[in-house]
Amino acid sequence: MRPRILVVGSFAMDLIVSTNRFPNSGETVIGCGFQTAPGGKGANQAVQAARLGAQVTMVGKVGNDSYGKALLEIAQESGVEVSKTTVIDGVPTGIANVQIEIKDGKSANRIIVVPGANMKLEPQDIMFLYDTIEQYDMVMLQLEIPIQINEIVARIAYGKGVPVMLNPAPAAPLSHEFLKCITYISPNEHEAHDLTGIAVTDDESAKRAVEKLNRSGVENAIITLGANGAVFGNKDSFIKSPAVEGLEIVDTTAAGDSFIAAFCTATCLGAEPEMALEFANTAAAITISRMGAQPSLPDINEVLSLMKQRRKNIDMFEILR
Ligand code: RIB
Repeated sequence: MRPRILVVGSFAMDLIVSTNRFPNSGETVIGCGFQTAPGGKGANQAVQAARLGAQVTMVGKVGNDSYGKALLEIAQESGVEVSKTTVIDGVPTGIANVQIEIKDGKSANRIIVVPGANMKLEPQDIMFLYDTIEQYDMVMLQLEIPIQINEIVARIAYGKGVPVMLNPAPAAPLSHEFLKCITYISPNEHEAHDLTGIAVTDDESAKRAVEKLNRSGVENAIITLGANGAVFGNKDSFIKSPAVEGLEIVDTTAAGDSFIAAFCTATCLGAEPEMALEFANTAAAITISRMGAQPSLPDINEVLSLMKQRRKNIDMFEILR
């Protein structure tokens, strides 16, 4: 059976500016490209899981405008069920100002999110989950909607034994009550630093940060490390999973979203952490080889064909095609 995943999160239209050098404060530079692309951490993760073959429902809010319409359309085209996402008047759809620096063959980004309708999610929008959350194998949350909504969803899921993946991005303080309802947490190295106070600079500091996240009450912690792949840890094991190399790096936007959605999809299928990390790193490598958030998220056939090329066993993922 296909994994059933619930995402409660954000939609944003990404306004992407590329430059060969980020400007300093007070400085103007001439850029080299502009485009819009559908994004938002919640929607990116929902779209990625759906393209990988999961059955995905997304709860969110968009404004009654062209960005909102476009975001809902692409989510639906990708297979995401959006009947619990609402369109509201008087507030614009969320946007993200994505700045990409392409320099010395490397790509880096900076993002400013203006949440708009995302911050209008209210407890009444998620009350239906009290009766329905058991339909899902996993819940995926991020921090681009009101934290109170995330806390309620996590509490409902925890109460019914449904695992929750939290992508704590953008970084924010998290209460012990919230963390104890989370089964998997996946920050990047910067967010891990904010959460643990440990600067993640090498394997040893990454391990200490993972252990600290485990001690904070989350059973499984995964830190994504960009070009260095990811680390996973729980009370039984610590695993380092290298990034998949060989593809061009064009734009790293949504790499984390792609990784997390793939990790959750594989875990729901019953994959052991090592295999789920391999699947997730493969999806993320394809994502960063293309421009834009959702336009770059791969489908299941692309991921499995790259895994096969790399002589990985893909038998357990065939059901997702
Ligand atoms: O994780 C990448 C996403 O963060 C972008 O698509 C942007 O919308 C921001 O939310």
